[in-house]
Amino acid sequence: MKARDRLRIAMQKSGRLTEPALELLNRCGLSFRQSRDKLFCFGEGEPVDLLLVRDDDIPGLIAQGVCDLGIVGRNVLNEFQLTAGREIAPLAELRPLGFGRCRLSIAVPQELDYHGPQQLEGQRIATSYPGLLGEWLRTHGVAAGVVTLTGSVEIAPKLGTADAICDLVQSGGTLVANQLREAEVLLESEAVLTGPLTLPVDERGDMLELLLKRLDGVIQVRESRLLLLQTSRHTLEAVTRLLPGGPQPTLLQVAGQPDQLMLQALCAGEVSWRQLEEIKKAGAREMFVLPVEKMLA
Ligand code: PRP
Ligand code: ZN
Repeated sequence: MKARDRLRIAMQKSGRLTEPALELLNRCGLSFRQSRDKLFCFGEGEPVDLLLVRDDDIPGLIAQGVCDLGIVGRNVLNEFQLTAGREIAPLAELRPLGFGRCRLSIAVPQELDYHGPQQLEGQRIATSYPGLLGEWLRTHGVAAGVVTLTGSVEIAPKLGTADAICDLVQSGGTLVANQLREAEVLLESEAVLTGPLTLPVDERGDMLELLLKRLDGVIQVRESRLLLLQTSRHTLEAVTRLLPGGPQPTLLQVAGQPDQLMLQALCAGEVSWRQLEEIKKAGAREMFVLPVEKMLA
């Protein structure tokens, strides 16, 4: 194969990961000539191009060297690792990307009183993930039939072609609509950046390293929140104890009110309503959660 000097990233052509993946790449300073109905998008500015494909094809394209990187669900990546032949070079999960979160779960009919893996013994389980399901069944010492389907897995129990399913669950809506309920979680998944275990040592490798650094910056800032609140000195300790993880908070004196403090804390992740309510109960007032746009330590 002729050596390429431009980096090529494979991602889902149309689906749940497409929009957030494009947005993430844009934030890393990558933009592409818009030809979304086409397979190939030429990168403007940086020597990085996009290949828009079916998500299940992404690991194979990287393993074959057609692409250097891929944005794909961990479920697809891990399934590929388990089912690809030994002659194929293993891929690495380079970075978790924090979007497209879902679970690969076994679900059973709602009316079934489920109380453990042994109940699946001798049952037929429909899935598009025979590798991951097979591994889980082996780990749990369960002998079940694996029915491999490429789609519409959730209707298999109703059709009588399986007793249970093993599929992705995000909101749980699909399960409810099919009178199924989640029984076991096999894998917590999200979009990841994947690539070969050893990075190329050439211009592409240099670009890849640069891209990883930008990505780390983007992810760090995206997940950071600045929490501002007021508290009186005597509730300060209780309030501080409830703060989400992050560096030490900064305290400022409120002018003219010696007992009142303004607290400023950088939080490593999202701050939920529930957390805010708890902190408020401990004595905080005037609370703000602000997104962080840029950070330079
Ligand atoms: C997945 C999965 C379920 C559904 C679960 O399919 O196969 O059908 O999402 O999501 P929910 O819990 O929010 O209902 P997806 O829409 O990603 O399509 P695909 O599997 O055909 O790519
Ligand atoms: Zn899919």
